[in-house]
Amino acid sequence: MNKQSPIGVFDSGYGGLTVLSEIRKQLPQYDYVYLGDNARAPYGNRSFDVVYEFTLEAVKLLFEQGCPLVILACNTASAKALRTIQQNDLPKIDSFKRVLGVIRPSAEEIESLTSSNHVGILGTNGTVQSGSYIIELQKFAPDIQIVQLACPMWVPLIENNSHNSIPGKMFVKDDVERLLAMDSAIDTIILACTHYPILQDYIQELVGPKIKVIAQGPIVAKKLETYLFVHPEMEKALSKNGTCRYLTTENTAIFNQKATQFLNQEIVSEHVLFT
Ligand code: DGL
Repeated sequence: MNKQSPIGVFDSGYGGLTVLSEIRKQLPQYDYVYLGDNARAPYGNRSFDVVYEFTLEAVKLLFEQGCPLVILACNTASAKALRTIQQNDLPKIDSFKRVLGVIRPSAEEIESLTSSNHVGILGTNGTVQSGSYIIELQKFAPDIQIVQLACPMWVPLIENNSHNSIPGKMFVKDDVERLLAMDSAIDTIILACTHYPILQDYIQELVGPKIKVIAQGPIVAKKLETYLFVHPEMEKALSKNGTCRYLTTENTAIFNQKATQFLNQEIVSEHVLFT
């Protein structure tokens, strides 16, 4: 088959690369197109309407690239836009195409992760204010105690490569301490923003070995594999040449440099504009 029907992976910026790399490890046979809306990142402080509008544009662009399936590798977009896109837009655009998010996969796993039933969520303002994690986690574990903290500085720090600087590390430490002070029985912290796995080792060092720090990438990858197994019509529609293209709405030279750092491999991106 020559026609490319890749899996689309979308994030406001570089964060979704942490999910993409885990998906490609688990499912290397498929073709992928990654889209970073770097020109308009971060999304974390934007309103529902704006996040929905930007995410829908991104989904349409990935559909135009031939993707029958798009993963919103962005919690903010998953929290604020996914449901409306699934319920209102997809039936009008193409009833075969699918858009999946990153919140439900983590929620489905929560019972197997926590023993104390006390969970901390670190995310963007948008994700925390949406209450999506509370709603989704309690569907799968009704007795769970959840505390959430928005960390609005973290995405800009990561996007600007300042997260390893001394002030950058102080911001992160301060936020992690604030989360732990909210509930001393937390045994699991979900990194509910796809940028945050870049900080995972440092956060784990801060909280010590008794608390699990969970990145979503491996969970999303495993759930996607199951999804394709139970949806053979979608699995058959995907092309399988093991390729990956990278699209950015910002400067490609900057994207290449940062994505190369994040993924530890040479990345050459293409510039795209929303029409
Ligand atoms: N990676 C996005 C998320 O998971 C970051 C959001 C942002 O752009 O602020 O929420």
